[in-house]
Amino acid sequence: MNKKFYLETFGCQMNVVDSERIVDLLRQIGYGEVADAAEADLILLNTCSVRDKAERKVYGHLGSFKPLKDENPALILGVGGCVAQQEGERLLRKLPYLDLVFGTHNVHKLPEMVRSVEENRVRCHETEFLDRETRLQLFPVRTEGDSVTRFVTVMQGCDNFCSYCVVPHVRGREVSRPSAEILDEIRHLADSGVREVTLIGQNVNSYGGKEAGELSFAELLARVHEIEGIERIRFTTSHPKDLSDELIDCFGILDKLCTHIHLPVQSGSSRILQLMNRGYDREGYLDKVRRLKTVCPDIRLTSDIIVGFPGETGEDFEETLSLAAEVRYADIFSFLYSPRPGTAAAALSDDLGAKEKQERFDRLLALQEKNSREIWEGDCGKILPVLVEGESRQGDGQLFGRTTWNRIVNFAGDWSLVGKVINVRIVASRKNSQLGEIEESGSRNQES
Ligand code: SAH
Ligand code: SF4
Ligand code: F3S
Repeated sequence: MNKKFYLETFGCQMNVVDSERIVDLLRQIGYGEVADAAEADLILLNTCSVRDKAERKVYGHLGSFKPLKDENPALILGVGGCVAQQEGERLLRKLPYLDLVFGTHNVHKLPEMVRSVEENRVRCHETEFLDRETRLQLFPVRTEGDSVTRFVTVMQGCDNFCSYCVVPHVRGREVSRPSAEILDEIRHLADSGVREVTLIGQNVNSYGGKEAGELSFAELLARVHEIEGIERIRFTTSHPKDLSDELIDCFGILDKLCTHIHLPVQSGSSRILQLMNRGYDREGYLDKVRRLKTVCPDIRLTSDIIVGFPGETGEDFEETLSLAAEVRYADIFSFLYSPRPGTAAAALSDDLGAKEKQERFDRLLALQEKNSREIWEGDCGKILPVLVEGESRQGDGQLFGRTTWNRIVNFAGDWSLVGKVINVRIVASRKNSQLGEIEESGSRNQES
């Protein structure tokens, strides 16, 4: 292996999984990965276009690689992922130093494309959407885990067309993978040491709904639960409109299911939710949250919220604040609305000033920071089961793992604990993680 590639990944878990595939494919054609773009023969960006800022980041990055290309004309520069899908050939026209563009359905074509640039120096782009059968055959599969936790893609695409969202346009229609294949993959992962799986999809809880005779998402969870070796199950991202009673009940029945759900609400105002085409209203959402808390009093929720959707009034925004206060999310990802090409909302008039939007955003942030602090600091003194994942990213020789609520906990301990669920006493809470001390290694008492 003498050629080298450098890959950077932006965006959501879908891109993370696609990037794993890219790494595998490039290895097969003799490329080894390097951490420094300056050493690479091939530079690839796997991109996200969910908000304008994400898209602009791509152009900024590509610009920064131009000097490398000027120095070494043999260097191959490529863009994949959602910006590639959205822009297609236009990207090649905009950026004369770019060699290849591959869309979200075309990762498998990468080796062929790289070869053709290598051999013929022909710039190329592939952004065709594939039909359902071909996509099912090309689903990313990994049967060997080299880590304690893995993402497993169970469905791809999205049919929801929320009015602000580019995802259905860049990822295509929803397809669910056959459950037999998913279960087989997870069995193999468990055999190779994986202890936690996160089932992923743009709209993961609509899994199976559009395939005749397929399991429902709740049934799929129950089957994953039976797999020996798997200790924990998570899933993301759930759409509130597809959160069935059957799925809510899983949180009361399936011990391995972590007691955390990311359930993006987007807005607390029914009027705005309707304009967003979300398919539920404020009360419907709050009802589901109440049911979740009844079935599983321990559950913690996180959410995505968009501030400043076109036409959002002060009153609408107050409803978002009051909903966030009522649900008491453990964390929120909040975003300023960003018009996206081809979406329905891009045509709506957006006359709210930037200053007002920012003020709303800051108020939501302040409320959430207070809630988050109280919730995570409230864990101090508790003994919680933690699945140990590896060496702490702080590089201080500590270990890290996660609680059922997906919070990272750093603590001192022996490497042999990796892959085990151990009891850790939480001693301090930081902005994005907690500090702990091992309580009784190896045993798995309930949290106190
Ligand atoms: N499939 C997931 C996530 C989609 S993208 C879901 O349905 O929840 C992640 C988040 O980005 C969304 O939940 C939304 O809050 C935010 N987002 C998407 N489009 C946006 C836009 N045009 N402007 C601002 N935020 C946006
Ligand atoms: Fe986008 Fe809505 Fe689909 Fe989520 S459910 S990916 S927000 S269209
Ligand atoms: Fe971004 Fe594409 Fe994911 S737009 S959020 S990387 S599906």
